[in-house]
Amino acid sequence: MSRKFRLVTAILLVAMLMTSLAGCKGSGKVKVGLSFSDFATERWKNEEILMRKLLEDKGYEVISQEAAHDVKLQNDQIDNMVTQGVKAIIIVAEDGDAAATAASAAAKKGVIVLAYDRLIKTPDISAYVSFNNVEVGRQQALGVMSALNIDNWDVAGKGPARVVKLGGSPTDNNAILFRQGQDEILDPLEKAGKIEIVADQWVENWDAANALKLMENILVAAGNDIDAVVASNDGTGLGALQALKAQGLAGIVPISGQDATAPGCNSIVKGELTVSILKDIRDLSPLAIDLVDQLIKGEKADLKMYTLAELTNDPSMKGEVPCKFLPVYQVNKGNVYDLVVKSGFQSYDDVYRDIPEAQRPAKP
Ligand code: BGC
Repeated sequence: MSRKFRLVTAILLVAMLMTSLAGCKGSGKVKVGLSFSDFATERWKNEEILMRKLLEDKGYEVISQEAAHDVKLQNDQIDNMVTQGVKAIIIVAEDGDAAATAASAAAKKGVIVLAYDRLIKTPDISAYVSFNNVEVGRQQALGVMSALNIDNWDVAGKGPARVVKLGGSPTDNNAILFRQGQDEILDPLEKAGKIEIVADQWVENWDAANALKLMENILVAAGNDIDAVVASNDGTGLGALQALKAQGLAGIVPISGQDATAPGCNSIVKGELTVSILKDIRDLSPLAIDLVDQLIKGEKADLKMYTLAELTNDPSMKGEVPCKFLPVYQVNKGNVYDLVVKSGFQSYDDVYRDIPEAQRPAKP
């Protein structure tokens, strides 16, 4: 072999080695995907930050995307994460039916798929972690009904209490479960003639602007004669509250929310939103990350099997999914300080924004 040939061969070998090292860049870490329906609801961005940090602390590389309520885009983003070689994907599904396509395809390629907070309707997912969503609905309806003092409602004098139901996004399985819980409280009252349902609507995309529009129309149709609103989260509840406010009904007509958001809790201390629901994402995010870590390492996880039929209220659904559900807490004017502020879930300054100094409790 000539010297020149040996030199060229050596240069080529070094070049090949460098190229292959460059190709390996970052691949030392196992990749995990985070797929979000949207960042319009306060909690999802917070959970993205929480989960990213927890994953990175465990040495994972994170690929995160949000789909701005676009069902097809979310499936494309999931497919793309699989192409990028993720070992696991945590999904907040925009649509529990549509996401099943991408989730199943990922699972069939050996990717661990975790449905986060919202169910994805396929037994191919590795796990589903969420909160007690039916209890969310019960607590929303109970909070509103007790503010109405429904036990002592003067049906003879005033007629049944006129109640509006505002559900969440119909493509979100949780919205169905919240409604199930709400109806467990409302149906018997309706049968007993204590309440009357004057409107029953679903708020597309959980969008506050949609809720405002719906509520305006409901108020016009009812000539403002409504007594209570069971809304399904803080975003839509506060949207509807704007319509109530415009008619001088804020703080008079009880209304529910969910998520104990900063604006929701601020509205509670102002006496406008009646009730929210605390679901502590500081517990759900670590639960999801520990679970994904265990599943990636092939360790056994502490989960319980549920049938898709019971998770969806749809007896035609086949298969089962390992799950874990965390508790939920009703937040109202009486306990918001202890439950939300003292626990650090929301900051004192956010919750008591615009409240005069003299009317605020002491800082915790
Ligand atoms: C979640 C709620 C959230 C809503 C809108 C539901 O699936 O459980 O916490 O407010 O989606 O994003």
